[in-house]
Amino acid sequence: MAQGTAEPAIELAGVQHSYGTAPVLRGLDLSVQRGEIYALLGGNGAGKSTTLSALLGFIAPSSGSVRVCGIDPVSDPRGARAQMAYVPENVSLYDHLTARENIAYFLALAGHDTGASVIEPALGAVGLDSQAWDRRMSGFSKGMRQKVAIALALARDVPVLLLDEPTSGLDPRAVLEFNGLLDTARERQVAVLMVTHDLVSAVDIADRIGFLTAGRIEEEQQAGEGARFDLNALHDRYAGTGQAI
Ligand SMILES: Nc1ncnc2c1ncn2[C@@H]1O[C@H](COP(=O)(O)OP(=O)(O)OP(=O)(O)O)[C@@H](O)[C@H]1O
Ligand SMILES: [Mg+2]
Repeated sequence: MAQGTAEPAIELAGVQHSYGTAPVLRGLDLSVQRGEIYALLGGNGAGKSTTLSALLGFIAPSSGSVRVCGIDPVSDPRGARAQMAYVPENVSLYDHLTARENIAYFLALAGHDTGASVIEPALGAVGLDSQAWDRRMSGFSKGMRQKVAIALALARDVPVLLLDEPTSGLDPRAVLEFNGLLDTARERQVAVLMVTHDLVSAVDIADRIGFLTAGRIEEEQQAGEGARFDLNALHDRYAGTGQAI
């Protein structure tokens, strides 16, 4: 892992991508350091999920460079994915397996240790009630599923975490718990890229907020020393683009 180096864990530079003839990313520059939480905002269809797809190596940009801990996800997708955990909006884990079995299964696939000493601290860290650890996931709520997905990410101990609309559909208490989880990830020096429409969560937890408009980061704001973002100003700024929140 690249801990201690100045190189950003996530780096997109001049990235262009079109689906067919429709350009989506038009020279996107974005970087996230380890121990930093970056909230990527933008209207529906702005290209936020496409940005994550580029990092995951699901798409190959027509130009520009994409690096995850220095690895190009197009030329070395396995190497890049070994550095990343990705939590999509709708977490897809196996319903017929328990939370513990799901984590063990995906850890085994990644060639990791699957012992209780790895799995239990991760399930504990995400605050999933220990009574649920050995229950099948078919009865889990959205918030519980997300906790298991993040527990898997923590157990894998990867330096990069990608989250697509992680708080959509979570109740306010679950959002607070989720923000606490990101604090844990930050303490562990994880680089977090969070795509979101949830300004409240972004204001509470992000170190940096970027607006994706017309295929590039149109504006970036950094949380200052002791000073958080101005929610009302952000809301006006966001709604003022004419795109849906
Ligand atoms: N596989 C695909 N094939 C063709 N067009 C696509 C594909 N995926 C996304 N698009 C188009 O690319 C644009 C950006 O999509 P993307 O999913 O990245 O947006 P987004 O910012 O994540 O939006 P949302 O907030 O609605 O999730 C949209 O116009 C979308 O229709
Ligand atoms: Mg999306």
